[in-house]
Amino acid sequence: MSFDRGHHTLHVKADLFVENRRRLVEALRGKAQSGSWVLLRGGVEQTRYNTDADDLPFRQESYFFWTFGVHESDVYGAIELDTGKSVLFPPRLADDYFIWEGEVRDTNWFKEKYQVDEVQFREVFVVEDYLKSKNASILYLLEAENTDSHKVLASAEIDGCNIPSDKTLLYPVIAELRVFKTDMELEVMRYASKIACDSHVDVMKTMKSNMYEYQGESVFRHHSYFHGGCRHLAYTCIAASGENGSTLHYGHANAPNNRFIRDGDMCLFDMGPEYNCYASDVTCSFPVNGKFTEKQKIIYNAVLKANQAVFKASRPGVWWTDMHLLAEKVILKDLTAAGILKGDVEEMVNKRLGAVFQPHGLGHFIGLDVHDVGGYLGDAKPRSPLPGLRSCRTSRSLKERMVITIEPGCYFIDGLLDKALADPELSKFLVREKLDEFRGFGGVRIEDVVVIWEQGNENLSKYVPRTVEEIEAAMMK
Ligand code: GLY
Ligand code: MN
Ligand code: MN
Repeated sequence: MSFDRGHHTLHVKADLFVENRRRLVEALRGKAQSGSWVLLRGGVEQTRYNTDADDLPFRQESYFFWTFGVHESDVYGAIELDTGKSVLFPPRLADDYFIWEGEVRDTNWFKEKYQVDEVQFREVFVVEDYLKSKNASILYLLEAENTDSHKVLASAEIDGCNIPSDKTLLYPVIAELRVFKTDMELEVMRYASKIACDSHVDVMKTMKSNMYEYQGESVFRHHSYFHGGCRHLAYTCIAASGENGSTLHYGHANAPNNRFIRDGDMCLFDMGPEYNCYASDVTCSFPVNGKFTEKQKIIYNAVLKANQAVFKASRPGVWWTDMHLLAEKVILKDLTAAGILKGDVEEMVNKRLGAVFQPHGLGHFIGLDVHDVGGYLGDAKPRSPLPGLRSCRTSRSLKERMVITIEPGCYFIDGLLDKALADPELSKFLVREKLDEFRGFGGVRIEDVVVIWEQGNENLSKYVPRTVEEIEAAMMK
């Protein structure tokens, strides 16, 4: 069996996760003790605060999903490392479950759907008793601290269990495996990004002035769910217009895509669905009525040039932080040509002027999480303390099968411009009168999802119009 959402959606085989488990067992060979097991716990469905009402539809925890591909809530999973044998422990459901929630699946259903070796329904002590009956010598648990949020994923500890456990071995191994996508994972990611692109094009064709930002979000959600079967988006929609385009993570609870869009505004729409938990993350910037002004063209073309330069220069062996600096250089050069800046571009980069216009990192790994794991494993250099560079979600060198976003941007953020104008090291580069003309402009970001390959990178989001001419043609009403 497998996963799909009907004939018009992608069919994903359980083999994808069989392969992931095989890779995990292989990677732990020689590192794990004999008789050891990996034990993971899936996510648990939540209600809204203290009520009994469901809130958002359940979405599985990503490490558990990578390993087992299981969509149900509150499941444990174990792997015997000597043999590769996999076991799922779904919860034993209440007697009246069928009345309220529907079909109660038997162990065979789980076994077939997820292609595991064994399934045991979980009641008190079932997991512990099972592992003891197999003479488990040690349990490898996952304690994963996210390198961006610093939040720690709780491990699958079993209260009172006296089988020894270890929380250090598993994390770096499994996170590193997640960095490199298999062919089967890439197939799902290609699909999620195609749906993202089609949804963005639908939004671009629909938007016009005198609409609200959230109406763009609504079209995106509808398109990706109705046509792509994507129940979840990978992150909260950023449907920013006008000056809101300079708020990098616009769209959150305090800024919920509420603005009324006026003729002449740029839109910066950063939205991506996920399919079978694999994320997409695409940003399109366009003038709301489909016709760029000269000012908009300057900023848009600078960012597009940076995006294309990075795509071309990104290849195995190249450091991501160098790509960040390359994007800055391209943008600063164009801002200088436009008379907004003056002086030597190399010096601007060294003084970190780039971070005034693009304070965020150039991009990030993407996979089961939109900001995927592993950015500071492998050959990563310590996180830079410098503006802009410190926001890079990875400092690694690129390798084949990494999937990373390329998302340069240029923003006019009053707070940062004022600070730069007050700093003699930076203000000497700024042409105040010209800069003032761009206050309130908002920003431009152009974001693609890219697979790194030795023979040339693959742009998974190549289906959106990117040049000024392509955008104007696509939006022609
Ligand atoms: N959508 C968030 C980001 O681009 O990283
Ligand atoms: Mn991104
Ligand atoms: Mn994004």
